[in-house]
Amino acid sequence: MKLISQVSEVHEFIDEYRAQKNTIGLVPTMGFLHEGHISLMQRAANENDKTIVTIFVNPLQFAEGEDLSSYPQNLDKDINECEAIGVDLLFIPSSEEMYSQPILTSVQVDQLMSTIEGASRPTHFSGVATVVAKLFNIVGPCNAYFGEKDWQQLQVISTMARDLSFRVKVLGCPTVRQSDGLALSSRNAYLTPEEREAATVISRSLQVASENVQAGETSASVIKSQIVDEMTAETLATLDYVEIVEGSSLQTIDQITEGARILIAAKVGKARLIDNVNPYFGIK
Ligand code: PAF
Repeated sequence: MKLISQVSEVHEFIDEYRAQKNTIGLVPTMGFLHEGHISLMQRAANENDKTIVTIFVNPLQFAEGEDLSSYPQNLDKDINECEAIGVDLLFIPSSEEMYSQPILTSVQVDQLMSTIEGASRPTHFSGVATVVAKLFNIVGPCNAYFGEKDWQQLQVISTMARDLSFRVKVLGCPTVRQSDGLALSSRNAYLTPEEREAATVISRSLQVASENVQAGETSASVIKSQIVDEMTAETLATLDYVEIVEGSSLQTIDQITEGARILIAAKVGKARLIDNVNPYFGIK
């Protein structure tokens, strides 16, 4: 595995890979890799000749007062995990390398960025889309893998890639969960044992909602208020939002249909956690 930090080095390796007609799988991450990332990397390695992983805690997607400076890191462990999976290129740029000049350009994906998570974090998705656009340009044509846990992020990135004609196929991969349903997230590291237990209320209420939908309840407002009741009963969790939307347009819906997604964000201790489900499939 090549460990590199310069954009010019990525170009050199990619040029060589392409000259040999290799297909390229890209997994952008912010590090502190967990089983969710591992599943993306394994899929990329299975489906492509060469796998590139990036680790970059992107300052553009954190607002003032968010956890940029305390975002968990364990680079040595991350490097070992990537090596074990057979990653070919691990790109770990500095902020100076990614943003050597003050960045004046930003990517906006209208309608998809200002709702749900974007209503709570107004600058977040523009920061995500901008860094992902840079990574897509640095790497060039590839298959790029993102987790469905960040459902809105996946819609933003897929739409950006389509609208701006990136030669990148964006692939969503199922959320990886612990045995009690908690979605894996680097931010779970902030939870105390008691909060970790309490955090299961998020996936539990998504699963109960899914069962109710599958039993015939299709009113979004009824399902929403059942989730609010369940979440409110857990005193260690503070619900930020529960939204029921059409899965790709992210438009709010009144009646739950097969393409629906239910999305939740909640604060548990220091961790702000998000999760989502298609209620016709439920939490797997
Ligand atoms: O999902 C993440 O880890 C980040 O938002 C991403 C896509 C790597 C962009 O910084």
